[in-house]
Amino acid sequence: MGQPRFEKVAFIGLGLIGSSLARVIRERQLAGCIAASSRSQTTLDQALTLGVADEVHRDPADAVRGADLVVLAMPVCATEAVLTAIRLALKPDAIITDVGSTKGNVVEAAKAVFGEQLPAGFVPGHPIAGGEKTGVTAGKVDLFAHHKVILTPLESSDPEAVRRVRELWQAAGAEVLEMPVDRHDAILARTSHLPHLLAFALVEQLAAASDNLDIFRYAAGGFRDFTRIAASDPLMWHDIFMANKTAVLDALDGFTQQAAALRERIVSGDSSGLLGVLGRAQAAREHFTHMLAKTPYMETTSVSQQFTLNGGGSLRGRLHIPGDKSVSHRSIMLGALAEGVTQVSGFLEGEDALATLQAFRDMGVVIEGPKNGNVTIHGVGLNGLKAPAGALYMGNSGTSMRLLSGILSAQSFDTVLTGDPSLTKRPMERIAKPLRLMGAHIQSTGERGTPPLSIKGNQPLTAIHYDLPMASAQVKSGILLAALWAKGTTSVSEPEPTRDHTERMLQAFGYPVSVNGNIVSVTGGGTLTATRIQVPADISSAAFFMVGAAISPNSDVTLLQVGINPTRTGVIEILRQMGADIQLENEAMAGGEPVADIRIRSSQLKGINIPEDQVPLAIDEFPVLFIAAACAQGRTVLTGAEELRVKESDRIQVMADGLHLLGIDCTPTPDGMIIEGKGQPDSWPEVFAGGQIESHHDHRIAMSFTMASLRSSQPIHIMGTETVATSFPNFTLLCQQAGLPIQVTE
Ligand code: S3P
Repeated sequence: MGQPRFEKVAFIGLGLIGSSLARVIRERQLAGCIAASSRSQTTLDQALTLGVADEVHRDPADAVRGADLVVLAMPVCATEAVLTAIRLALKPDAIITDVGSTKGNVVEAAKAVFGEQLPAGFVPGHPIAGGEKTGVTAGKVDLFAHHKVILTPLESSDPEAVRRVRELWQAAGAEVLEMPVDRHDAILARTSHLPHLLAFALVEQLAAASDNLDIFRYAAGGFRDFTRIAASDPLMWHDIFMANKTAVLDALDGFTQQAAALRERIVSGDSSGLLGVLGRAQAAREHFTHMLAKTPYMETTSVSQQFTLNGGGSLRGRLHIPGDKSVSHRSIMLGALAEGVTQVSGFLEGEDALATLQAFRDMGVVIEGPKNGNVTIHGVGLNGLKAPAGALYMGNSGTSMRLLSGILSAQSFDTVLTGDPSLTKRPMERIAKPLRLMGAHIQSTGERGTPPLSIKGNQPLTAIHYDLPMASAQVKSGILLAALWAKGTTSVSEPEPTRDHTERMLQAFGYPVSVNGNIVSVTGGGTLTATRIQVPADISSAAFFMVGAAISPNSDVTLLQVGINPTRTGVIEILRQMGADIQLENEAMAGGEPVADIRIRSSQLKGINIPEDQVPLAIDEFPVLFIAAACAQGRTVLTGAEELRVKESDRIQVMADGLHLLGIDCTPTPDGMIIEGKGQPDSWPEVFAGGQIESHHDHRIAMSFTMASLRSSQPIHIMGTETVATSFPNFTLLCQQAGLPIQVTE
């Protein structure tokens, strides 16, 4: 980014915005001279006293003479008069920009003065910053830092002038965007002008009431928060409402309709409709915040969190592990697409499953909760989803994106799926390709077949048979979900069995699924019927405590009612082969899934060659199994697990880096890892040296190294742990309960 340099900058108007930009130019030494013109002599006097301007003029023509940059910073309705006054005094190649909140009328005013052929130096702009305080004394040099500035260059604008105006705002610390004039005005009408109009209106409504004194006296937080912006400059807002008349009226009409619809719901006692609107609005408010910040969902997380563990200890107790992530995702999807009301209990309130929940809210489904793991979904049927207003944000969740791709390929509306920086690096062609074979129009618009995904609506789907090239439950499920709308019978064959929650849950919703060896088939055109879903505890989350208890002396942990679906129990099988003492108690069925209490005690583990057929059945558990392998006696070899390289991080490399750092001899291979365990017969030596681990914002890496601390001689610091909340929001609390205190630093 270059530093723009001007000989003379002239400000016409020196209020909050103009004087703040002048302060930036002064401080960064971007101009030889700053001239200012204002209708107010007091402003001009103050500008000199404050050192904001070098020369001041009552007549704007005098200010712009010789200026190579002219900034129009007065109320927008004065634009035509000011341009008329300065036209003949302007340098022919001067850059002219403005800071007005409306752009259409500024361009119209310029045309009225210059004719259709506007000066090449004319680049309209709008910094989205401000405050209720006005005037030259209120200006601040950092007013624009981390704010957006929208430039609306015209066809006549010289690209060089646009570049210099852009650099000027960047020098002020702003993020500069460009868009057409009309779009700017329509967006600002809704996001800024309408809220101001409503704030003024609400204060006026209360102020005009006969008992206004009482009302104001009792008006508390809500009134204060909602009406803060009604303290803004009336003249400025008068000008904005008038100048952006068409777009403001459109926005106001939209609001009036919305208010009338809400009124009607209250009048008619439509409480589920009312709840739907309020729930969607509340969730959307949160969602936008996160979408813009590109952070995960939960307010309590921040992107720089770290764990510190002292080293040593053991795990004991009976623990309730939170709900299964895979089952939670599917309960929302099928519940939303079913006829009737589905009740879910044990839902995982982690960010990934919440991203799925939010996506269906965005598509018009009324969902109550989650509250203590309970969710009520008012199903809309297979053809009841509505077009979302914007892109669907999947956060960190690959499952949400791949399964939803199948569902969305069959809808009557277009959608775009986006995610956080980790998700936007993950491969999506693996699901896009089979969906295309079914007739879907789906495009991965990232650089290498990665998100965002753009899906076109109204594409009739036809059944296919698909041989999955990799063992992936996500891809299998995406295809089976699309098959619900496809003509004919879709079948998918898998090279190895993968988790079958989609198949089980479709059947729980009354949808026939046929399973023949390694081939699953679904015929389109049926219906899903609402049901009750009890989500079992997540064996992938339980795995951290299983390994933690196995590797540490004097440990004895029971994990209650954990899902033991045979397509998920690879971790039990592998740990048993390594010599772990694991018992299953109280086996039962819950919501179509087998569950059991898993008891696990300290065990002397030994290294093994992990059977490749166990890989898909333990795919998410390898990071923590590597920790177990490091504590075992002898060598452990994993092969056939190249999928680990495309999870939330490259789990082979990231784990190898962390293990090396903690003093473990291990070799990453393209499809697995060789780990030389440091275990000793009949003793519990400290296996890991302490150190600082980089989790690469991968939840399972962070939780795995947490368990490593149980056999560490020194403290372990784990960086980037905020993503633990994607799958295991109360992980630190459960560690504490089991006797492993974690110090969390934000
Ligand atoms: C999941 C399938 C697995 C797993 C992921 C959840 C699912 O991914 O790693 O955490 O819910 O279907 P792949 O199917 O891509 O292996």
